[in-house]
Amino acid sequence: MLKKIAVMTSGGDAPGMNATVRAVVRYAVSKGVEVYGIMRGYIGLIENDFVQLKFSDVGGIMERGGTILRTARCEEFKVDRGRKEAYKVLKDRQIDGLVVIGGDGSLTGATLIANESDVKVVGIPASIDNDIHGTDMCIGVDTCLNTVVENIQKLKDTASSHERAFIVETMGRNCGYIALVSGITTGAEAIVIPEVKVDFQALADKLLAGKKRGKINSIVVVAEGAASAYTVARHLENRTGYETRVSILGHIQRGGSPSAFDRLLACRLGSGAAEALLSGQNNVMMGLQSDGIVPVDLNKALQTKKEIDLELYKLANILS
Ligand code: ADP
Ligand code: F6P
Repeated sequence: MLKKIAVMTSGGDAPGMNATVRAVVRYAVSKGVEVYGIMRGYIGLIENDFVQLKFSDVGGIMERGGTILRTARCEEFKVDRGRKEAYKVLKDRQIDGLVVIGGDGSLTGATLIANESDVKVVGIPASIDNDIHGTDMCIGVDTCLNTVVENIQKLKDTASSHERAFIVETMGRNCGYIALVSGITTGAEAIVIPEVKVDFQALADKLLAGKKRGKINSIVVVAEGAASAYTVARHLENRTGYETRVSILGHIQRGGSPSAFDRLLACRLGSGAAEALLSGQNNVMMGLQSDGIVPVDLNKALQTKKEIDLELYKLANILS
């Protein structure tokens, strides 16, 4: 039975990370396990920046955006020497289990710890990008989508007033999920994602056809990994003569109080991760699959590319 575990948030923050920390801590503490929070992800681990978390220390954080444990990107952890320092810290502190909450980079670090040290590791997918295989949704995605949809809706107001086209750039790194789902749920004219080669002429024709039908606004959602919104705007302006504006939503997509969906997912994945660790599982990630919480082999999850649902892309084209 594990006696002392640690939890960290790492990589890009995501709404719901705090709710996840709360669930990990409260589940483990309720089973008599001592829990430590590691500050600032892998850099805090290397620098031995730990804080003990008791049941009441994680009160009132469910609804808070960001992460109370802070987060960071840490180059040192990618090299052997940095990781050896980290393993020494874990050993000296007699930590026998670790929960890593983060995106695919953070989970890559987590699997290395499981493979290279005696510490048991369970990962929890938290990233607005929704690019992790083995889970239908990552923590933070739903809140991010609600933010994007709300903002596109506002842009539509001003686009209609001025009869303009808006090119809206969303985050997602190399994954088009945020653009695809926000595009379909706001009725955008077009969606540009890295998974589908862009045809600027077809896009321009679609906008012109919309105008012919009497549309007074046009929204094109562009995933950052596909193209720069400015490039798309230039192509479209040249081909349609439309007055266009660009809006890059940026980091507002990562902030805010988590939605009910993300809070529930955080409660389930967080407690599931603590339970998995305490029952002796190692090198797994807790995932949401068909509404069940399941352990997924971490190496396999990281080695498999999460495919985007291209049926949704086709549907968006039909419906807009
Ligand atoms: P995210 O977890 O949101 O995908 P990153 O890709 O920036 O964010 O990864 C977060 C951190 O995870 C990195 O700064 C690094 O400390 C660690 N990490 C990422 N990739 C690796 C790797 N290949 N080996 C070891 N650690 C890694
Ligand atoms: O992985 C989350 C994410 O927000 C990506 O969508 C984006 O490409 C990246 O992080 C931005 O990173 P940073 O916070 O370092 O600007």
